[in-house]
Amino acid sequence: DVANFWRPTNYPPGPWPIPFIGDVARIKPSTIHLDFAKFAKKYGNIYSLRLFGGHMVVIHGYRLVKEALAVRGEDYVDRPIIPLFEDLVGNSGLVASYGYLWKQQRRFALHTLRNFGLGKKSLEPAIQQECQYLAEVFAQQKGEPCNPRIFINKAVSNIICCLVFGERMDYDNKRHQQILADLKELIRLEGSIWVLVYSIAPWLMKRLPGPHKKIFTVTENIINYVQVKISEHKETHDPSNPRDYIDCFLTEIAEREDKESGFDLRNLSFSALDLFVAGTETTTTTLYWALLFMIYYPHIQEKVQAEIDAEVGSRMPSLQDRDELHFTNAVIHEVQRMGNILPLNVGHMTTKETTLENFTIPKGVMVIGNLDSVLHDETMWESPHTFNPGHFLDEQGKFRKRDAFLPFSIGKRVCLGEQLARMELFLFFSGLLQRFTFSAPEGEQPSLECDMGVVHSPKPYCLCAKLR
Ligand code: HEM
Repeated sequence: DVANFWRPTNYPPGPWPIPFIGDVARIKPSTIHLDFAKFAKKYGNIYSLRLFGGHMVVIHGYRLVKEALAVRGEDYVDRPIIPLFEDLVGNSGLVASYGYLWKQQRRFALHTLRNFGLGKKSLEPAIQQECQYLAEVFAQQKGEPCNPRIFINKAVSNIICCLVFGERMDYDNKRHQQILADLKELIRLEGSIWVLVYSIAPWLMKRLPGPHKKIFTVTENIINYVQVKISEHKETHDPSNPRDYIDCFLTEIAEREDKESGFDLRNLSFSALDLFVAGTETTTTTLYWALLFMIYYPHIQEKVQAEIDAEVGSRMPSLQDRDELHFTNAVIHEVQRMGNILPLNVGHMTTKETTLENFTIPKGVMVIGNLDSVLHDETMWESPHTFNPGHFLDEQGKFRKRDAFLPFSIGKRVCLGEQLARMELFLFFSGLLQRFTFSAPEGEQPSLECDMGVVHSPKPYCLCAKLR
């Protein structure tokens, strides 16, 4: 079999590659997760694709994704090396890093996040206050139609600002607006086809003009901004009284001996950048879906509001209320399941030859633990393709967890910001619904159509926010 000469014995099956560009020609970026579902129907729950000469294995469905990423997590813990990012940042930061450096950086980030508010809850009041600012902006629209995305984006990014820089920024701060625009552009470019094109011939692409060049400029802009903040922090740094992520990192730089762990100023910039990239667009898009589902299903919105009114009243909702707000909590989970914002997860790479079912996956192969296939797994959900908060409620209407709820993935690379994201989703969502009723503009029928960039997002839409 000519097509199989490069495949090891027992390598997962897949479509015939088209020479050179691989399977990319068969895939439309806007519906890529649906194409992947079709491949699974044809080739089974573990299948292979070729992309620009590289090999990729896709794992489909709850049982196998868990088996690979959690049970055999150590075998899948690396990230694929994408030449563009290697040139851009090398092994640095939190998201794309690997090996010893990643382990040290991740441990430090988790520890620092926990200190600043997951355990001690100091981020909770910051989120509540930010929700207040966000509510003011909605109130200023006076019930007129508006696209809520940018408002949500500013509020959500301010939580990472508090964590990393120790302070929020005013919504009309020009610098802040520029950073958000740069981040959006960076995420858009990183997800574009140019990243793959660059992979074929990095030596050539570096010399040619094209959108990939912009990634370098935009990254530089953001890094410069972070570096200014780092300099300011250095002047007032007091190790016995850390204010934020930068302060803690500066202390670590002073104390660490081993260079390999990546505690240096360069890595501080890239880790801060990663927290913004990973923490802003994801949470923003989830809340953007949440409000869309509320205008699409007004009776569900009413039920959430009734629950908040009964359990919380008019004071600000706090994390303690989460245990009593069963329906609200179930709605947020269902928004995450159906919003499905990272359908193809973030790519993993095998650290050694490994087996899954009866298939052999060699070392160094990119692996996609497909989250779309888990969140819509027909063997795990009662109505996989319908918005149904009942998925997360038991017979008494109490909240119940579900195994296949994996929007944050699973295993050693599981989202580092999961706890923070869940705090934000709960406090923003319940805080907004307590104060406003959201509806589609007069005469407009809301639509659940989506855009697939790097994150799976609703198509731009407008809503009206009426004070209750
Ligand atoms: C990684 C989802 C919010 C920081 C990830 C991954 C997913 C994910 C699917 C990849 C996991 C894997 O490779 O298996 C989400 C969702 C969010 C969210 C759905 C919001 C609703 C956040 C926030 C932060 C954050 C708020 C900031 C603190 C990170 C980081 C990684 C990551 C640093 C890389 C972890 C690593 O490679 O070790 N996230 N995330 N995320 N997330 Fe999140």
